[in-house]
Amino acid sequence: MSFSQRTLLTWVALSAATLLAGCERPPIETVQHGFRGTGMVQVYNPRTVAASIPLNVVPDPVPAATPGGPAASLVYQNVKVLGNLSVGEFSRTMVAMSAWVAPEQGCTYCHNAQNFASDEKYTKVVARKMLQMTHKINADYKSHVAETGVTCYTCHRGNNIPKNVWFTAKPEARSAGMIGDRAGQNTVSVAGAYSSLPEDPFTPYLLEAKDIRIIGETALPTGNRHSIKQAEWTYSLMSHMSTSLGVNCTYCHNSRSFASWETSPPQRATAWYGIRMVRDLNNDYMTPLTGVFPAHRLGPTGDVGKANCLTCHQGAYKPLYGKSMVKDYPAMVAAAASAPNVVAIESTPAADKAPAMKVASK
Ligand code: HEC
Ligand code: HEC
Ligand code: HEC
Ligand code: HEC
Repeated sequence: MSFSQRTLLTWVALSAATLLAGCERPPIETVQHGFRGTGMVQVYNPRTVAASIPLNVVPDPVPAATPGGPAASLVYQNVKVLGNLSVGEFSRTMVAMSAWVAPEQGCTYCHNAQNFASDEKYTKVVARKMLQMTHKINADYKSHVAETGVTCYTCHRGNNIPKNVWFTAKPEARSAGMIGDRAGQNTVSVAGAYSSLPEDPFTPYLLEAKDIRIIGETALPTGNRHSIKQAEWTYSLMSHMSTSLGVNCTYCHNSRSFASWETSPPQRATAWYGIRMVRDLNNDYMTPLTGVFPAHRLGPTGDVGKANCLTCHQGAYKPLYGKSMVKDYPAMVAAAASAPNVVAIESTPAADKAPAMKVASK
């Protein structure tokens, strides 16, 4: 073989390796998901699955509190959300919240240790709103979270700020002078699974309520106004959804007709509710906190960090692979935790008469 032949062969081999590097190395496992012949097969890479398992392990529950004792609202000065819990369960919740959100800093991440009732630290004000948000998810979004529910840990996993939050992209990042509005495209998009799809499909769909539609309802071009741009935003969101759950498109769609609900697996309906849930969380809980956060926590356009599918799912088809933590923590469910703070300390009823107690010591 001549030198130039060898060089050529090396070059061909190298280019092939480079091309293949874009694909995943075998083995690949497939699991049938729809009816036979529909091609609705889930393709899993065992290495990716193995890597996501340690990220989705549930910590051991904090030991149970001694039952009984007065309601927190009767003992403490400034409880607006957790008043119905017994003092024991209240303290246990504080220990759990520290482990879930501030394992290194502990109580003083949210409190002035000289005065636990004070709201001087912004983190405490945020945490109170987060408690209300968690209650909202567990009470009103069973259509998505079922009885599994969520706790602070579902999003935070021991971090002050959840690992996966998003900010609205700066307008400059979206336009490129002469070419006009690039809509955040043609740069490597982390949201769009490292494609050149739009970088921020979250603002239109997970904050605003733009229509997630592409496909016309008639065979002929009779008035389908959906643009190519809209299609690209939709695909970018869909890529984010697939990546967040560690699944392919056919987990939720029959690729014969992406739009058809009749032939879609039930998971698509769960996802539909999920989109509405995330939108509500971002609008009703995250955005109103904007003024509470210090400037260095805000994004390039001055917005607050917000949730998307990855914030909870972190690569698993169900966060924490479907293991429920809520049953161990009554504080995460509004019905058990919240007492309207009507009982003033002065008029403390006998502890065994307090209506709060029955729920708290259940
Ligand atoms: C992630 C933030 C956070 C951490 C960490 C935290 N707390 Fe709290 N704590 C709160 C919030 C929020 C409230 C108010 C709850 C409410 O309004 O119902 C509160 C209220 C309290 C109160 C009631 C004070 C009063 O008189 O009103 C006590 C006591 C308390 N926490 C103790 C602790 C202890 C002890 C720790 C550490 C083991 C701790 N907290 C860790 C957020 C936190
Ligand atoms: C976790 C479930 C889920 C996954 C995974 C998923 N989708 Fe979707 N898809 C949905 C839901 C839900 C809607 C409808 C959204 C709405 O109406 O708010 C939708 C809508 C669409 C639409 C618009 C259909 C129309 O009516 O015009 C297309 C196209 C689409 N998805 C393609 C894809 C592609 C391509 C992938 C893989 C990259 C994918 N989807 C992955 C759940 C999913
Ligand atoms: C749906 C996901 C989700 C859940 C559930 C959740 N959080 Fe958060 N949390 C967030 C997001 C998103 C932020 C905002 C990050 C930012 O703007 O920097 C945040 C921020 C915070 C912060 C501010 C941290 C800092 O250093 O600025 C605290 C404190 C906090 N959460 C406490 C809690 C507590 C306590 C719970 C449970 C009662 C909880 N969170 C549940 C998503 C969540
Ligand atoms: C606040 C946390 C949270 C967020 C954010 C979230 N999910 Fe979920 N999701 C859950 C929980 C918890 C479950 C498990 C429910 C159960 O046990 O049936 C779940 C289940 C699902 C399922 C059903 C899986 C199955 O096999 O049955 C789908 C599909 C899904 N989520 C899609 C999404 C999509 C798409 C988004 C973003 C638009 C999203 N989720 C955002 C918490 C969340």
